[in-house]
Amino acid sequence: MPLHRLDKIITDTGLCSRRQAREIIFHGRAAVDGQPVTDPAFKLDAALHTVTVDGAELDGEEHIYIMMNKPGGVLTAARDKRAPTVLDAIPAEWKKRGVFPVGRLDKDTTGLLLLTDDGPFAHRVISPRSHIGKLYEAQVDGVPTASDAEAFREGIVLADGTRCLPAELTDLGEGKVRVVVFEGKYHQVKRMLAARYLPVLALRRLRIGGLWLDESLKPGEYRRLSREELLSIGPELLSK
Ligand code: URA
Repeated sequence: MPLHRLDKIITDTGLCSRRQAREIIFHGRAAVDGQPVTDPAFKLDAALHTVTVDGAELDGEEHIYIMMNKPGGVLTAARDKRAPTVLDAIPAEWKKRGVFPVGRLDKDTTGLLLLTDDGPFAHRVISPRSHIGKLYEAQVDGVPTASDAEAFREGIVLADGTRCLPAELTDLGEGKVRVVVFEGKYHQVKRMLAARYLPVLALRRLRIGGLWLDESLKPGEYRRLSREELLSIGPELLSK
């Protein structure tokens, strides 16, 4: 097999443009057989070596799976005329491949957001039938009690009469709580806490299944998931 430049190999996967590939390499995000390579002109035989970007293997990846640390003030929508969206931030090449957000976070909610071009996977992550827990940290106006936690365990009834699935509420003190839900109704966590007279002042998602937000990502930053991270969400979620 012929030798090719690292920037060409990365570009040819459709991951990004040649210029973006060079930036990825300069920033030390690319590795060959686990060793970071910062020279875009580095030549290798892609059939013999494993190239990774942000720890995710390039070859044989049918789909793209991305973790973003969603900033506040950004919509979880494909496009919007007035407000910035999470898709505005990602490379055009990924958008061309049909990458979309997995579920929704409110405009003011921050933290872990997945994006992918794998529709069945996204559907399974969201579906209550998969029983994938989504963990949120909220700052609330009030002091939660043991009976609030009990109400969460039993299933909160929202103001409009909708009954939620059993969930978890943990008091962290100083108005901070952790909530784990297994479904994704509109404004779910805010409405559940409001039903217990605990209005939400700030909300951040930290975990989906077994995958935690990478806290080294600054708000608005994103990266591809490694295979291990992907499996940690729920190994049964991936298409066979
Ligand atoms: N629940 C909410 O109320 N808002 C979110 O953004 C996510 C979950």
